[in-house]
Amino acid sequence: MKHDPDVVRIFDTTLRDGEQSPGASMNVEEKVLVARQLERLGVDVIEAGFAASSPGDFEAVARVAATVTRPVVLSLARTKENDMVQAIRAVEKARNPGIHVFIATSDLHLERKLMMTRQEVIDAACWAVEYCRKYLDYVEFSAEDASRSDPDYLVQVFGEVIRCGATVVNVPDTTGYAVPEEFGALFRYLIANTPGSDRVVWSAHCHNDLGMAVANSLAAVRNGARQVECTVNGIGERAGNTSLEEVVMAIHTRSDFFKLRTNIVTEQIYPASRLLSQVTGLVVPVNKPIVGDNAFAHEAGIHQDGVLKDKLTYEIMRPESIGLPSNKLVLGKHSGRHAFAERLKQLGVDLYNVDMNKAFAKFKELADRKKFVYDEDILAIVTEEAVRGPDYLELLELEVRASTHGVPSAQVRLRVDGAVKQGAAEGDGMVDACFKAIAELVGVQPRLERYAVKAITGGTDAMGEVSCLISLDGVTATGQGAHTDIVHASALAYVNALNKIQSRRTRYRQISGEEP
Ligand code: KIV
Ligand code: ZN
Repeated sequence: MKHDPDVVRIFDTTLRDGEQSPGASMNVEEKVLVARQLERLGVDVIEAGFAASSPGDFEAVARVAATVTRPVVLSLARTKENDMVQAIRAVEKARNPGIHVFIATSDLHLERKLMMTRQEVIDAACWAVEYCRKYLDYVEFSAEDASRSDPDYLVQVFGEVIRCGATVVNVPDTTGYAVPEEFGALFRYLIANTPGSDRVVWSAHCHNDLGMAVANSLAAVRNGARQVECTVNGIGERAGNTSLEEVVMAIHTRSDFFKLRTNIVTEQIYPASRLLSQVTGLVVPVNKPIVGDNAFAHEAGIHQDGVLKDKLTYEIMRPESIGLPSNKLVLGKHSGRHAFAERLKQLGVDLYNVDMNKAFAKFKELADRKKFVYDEDILAIVTEEAVRGPDYLELLELEVRASTHGVPSAQVRLRVDGAVKQGAAEGDGMVDACFKAIAELVGVQPRLERYAVKAITGGTDAMGEVSCLISLDGVTATGQGAHTDIVHASALAYVNALNKIQSRRTRYRQISGEEP
């Protein structure tokens, strides 16, 4: 496979391994939205899901495959015929289709999980790779639990799959067990000893259980890996996967050391991080490298003094290089639609995804209420608009009451499937009262699994962004809402989640003919 040896390819698995994070599930529309942003970000490969795992996953892979054009789009598959058939069908419409097949190689997995001998695993892997190569030019093979496998056995497995036509071979640290020196040495050994190793791209796939996923991925790169598998914000199974933004900015910022580059448009990193956080409701910790709120904040006087004199004293990266809005006042209540659209374009927003009438109306409403409107407020408006499901429910009016002695209560007016309904409820706090009133009007009793509020910008008039995760009869959905009033933002988030549950049920019925 032809590949520039100075480029480290970025294989994004936010929509597959990332989605395996507890509470990070995304619906098809959300996955398409994230995939569009991944394309703008410049990732080389998008792992869009595990097509055989559910009709919803199949549909998501197929929709992503039909939407993006530059990156390779692929689905994960076990070395089982049905998995491969589904994965190959799901990427039929992709401009650059691929597949990712895997089987475990550690003795522990062979003996306890697969009940297979080493030879049987080699046979299954070769059969699967040969099968896929009949349909696709891009076939990646992964040796699950490679970091705990016998290196000489890995040499044998990889040698055989390369002979059978694999174009990318991936070495996963499935359990996050590796340490950098050891993982780097494993790559050195495998690349030096595997027959045909120069014909494939070597890839690293790390998990963060011991907090070393990025360090392990970079050690692999130093020892010959030219693809890193990672996720936006490092989301993923358990403690997460290698964080895309950290690995990319390490290679970028320390190009003097790595002497390598990626195809990533770094200015799209922050918009990608924000979008994913808003879609999944998984809040980025303030001290997260690169994209955390404090990543570019200087608190100590001595640091502030240095930065004022010369930013380079304490800053190794420019905030603009990751697309961080400068927090400056951009628009006010007299700004017109044209200025608003121009600003969105400058912020890297794809206007194709935005309902301009609704977004502009919201901006005007916000500008009337709020003294300063920042770039982040504008981004929150459009992202919230984009992740909103079809409006089966619409919040028309909300009134809440609370005092130090009375019981908090809420009155809501909702449009439910076209009919206007009004109701009230008391609760354990205003948000609780508001959620109860909405649930009673809709006639459902969802469970609130997670609830988070974040102030988007500073000040008491800041926009509050609420995300919640609810479940109803086994279906879960996240909802997002942004408003200067956090109770109002909470109601919007709750309604958004209920809308998604409704559309998920409808989709499920359409696909399977059954109730979820
Ligand atoms: O962590 C892992 O081993 C995986 C494989 C399927 C590549 O996600
Ligand atoms: Zn993984």
